[in-house]
Amino acid sequence: MITQVLVLNGPNLGRLGVREPEVYGSASFEELAELCRSTGRKLGLSVDVRQTDDESELISWVHEAADARLPVVLNPAAFTHYSYALRDALAMRTAPLVEVHISNPAKRESFRHTSVVAAVADGTVAGFGLVSYQLALQAIAELAAERAAEPGPESSAAP
Ligand code: DQA
Repeated sequence: MITQVLVLNGPNLGRLGVREPEVYGSASFEELAELCRSTGRKLGLSVDVRQTDDESELISWVHEAADARLPVVLNPAAFTHYSYALRDALAMRTAPLVEVHISNPAKRESFRHTSVVAAVADGTVAGFGLVSYQLALQAIAELAAERAAEPGPESSAAP
């Protein structure tokens, strides 16, 4: 069975390759998207990669994931550190969520040390460049397989 996954990216990540390459590397966003899709194919995942600079658009994609119960890999970019609106949207979802970062925010400026979304994610992968996304997709594949193997609510109901 193919699992559909959304890989959502927040502000300025569309500028990968030209944006602070010493921090974020030289690959473009399109190269990142292709890496996610090809990694997904190897893991049996159908990966839809999106990027926006707009908080409301990002939140609308999280609502879409919540309604369709789609697993999400999310790089919230700077929204990580202050968007309670994004955090509240994420709290509505039930499928797996992995927070991802290209850099390691814990090694950078102190405002990056807080993630307001981490507490509603299943886990976080940070600091491995684009490999962070590959590891996050691997975690999603594992979590989706585990949840598919769990007995449904009907099988645990009293006779
Ligand atoms: C980032 C880290 C954030 O602190 C920053 O605002 C970003 C990118 C990362 O992938 O390393 O835009 O999420």
